[in-house]
Amino acid sequence: MIWKVLSYPRYRLASLPTPMERASRLSRELGVNLLIKRDDVMELCLGGNKVRKLEFIVADALSKGCDVLITRGATHSNHVRLTAAAARKAGLEAYAVITPPGSTATQGNILLDKLLGARLVYVDRVEEADEEMARLAEELRSKGRRPYVIPVGGASELGVMGYALASLEILQQSLSYGVKPDYIVHATGTGATQAGLVLGLKMLRASDVKVIGISNGRKASELTPRLVKLFNSTARALDIDIEASEEDFTVYDEYSFGGYGAITSEVVDIMKYVARTEGIPLDPVYTAKAMYGLIDLVRRGAIKGGSTVVFIHTGGSPISFQYAAEVEKYL
Ligand SMILES: Cc1ncc(COP(=O)(O)O)c(C=O)c1O
Repeated sequence: MIWKVLSYPRYRLASLPTPMERASRLSRELGVNLLIKRDDVMELCLGGNKVRKLEFIVADALSKGCDVLITRGATHSNHVRLTAAAARKAGLEAYAVITPPGSTATQGNILLDKLLGARLVYVDRVEEADEEMARLAEELRSKGRRPYVIPVGGASELGVMGYALASLEILQQSLSYGVKPDYIVHATGTGATQAGLVLGLKMLRASDVKVIGISNGRKASELTPRLVKLFNSTARALDIDIEASEEDFTVYDEYSFGGYGAITSEVVDIMKYVARTEGIPLDPVYTAKAMYGLIDLVRRGAIKGGSTVVFIHTGGSPISFQYAAEVEKYL
């Protein structure tokens, strides 16, 4: 079944597989076999999980003859940065509707967005952003342009396909370490990463690998139906006969520390801990919170001692520079 995804048109933006490394020191301290999948290490503009989604999305935009990508995200959005970079790589332009939270100062991802020449349109309320994207698309169409609108976070069927393929990559790399993961843990937000992983594992008949999404803000009760919808619409788009229900998704929403974009001492403590044990930088909005969740779930026994855990580093390092003042408070 995974063949259906493999044979879908993709515009190559990164040479895959990304590295997967054994986190020996953290493994010893936590009492699990921890492997870190480095999706933050990719050649497209500092990398991240959005690149896998954009490979499918950009191919679709090009096949439809589009010449400009439009998307939206928070001020610190990795998705906006990577959409702008992917657009440039493919010879397209990018527009992005930027919403709170966060500072709009020229730092981190905003700095990179500007460097890439993305046209940024600021709105005050997240609720206005989809409407603003539609308005921009209409305006561009009236000028003879061919816009392609990408939903927030790349959370579309094509985005889900990116992480369905990643699950194959993760299983293959784990095999090279002589193991099969018991758990895959990652930051979850708009849902395409988690829906894709669960879909890919189902296609590979490896649903015994438990995927755990650590929410960066949304409540599990809001996110889970969204995951089911994304999964099922992607299965339909691929014309495969599998269906998911809410039981297929595990989401923990108690590790967002004050909500999306909030940075507390716990978050920075985890950033310091992982940097000082493994030399790996995490970001304060997504990956540090996900790692906090992983560590706490091991301590609580929800992730069993001695098990093999793959943590996906989904990227986001520019955010640390954007929020340097907030992070510095707890250094
Ligand atoms: C670094 C990082 N990790 C995780 C996520 C969440 O991924 P998804 O939107 O696919 O749930 C995002 C998306 O914004 C991200 O930028």
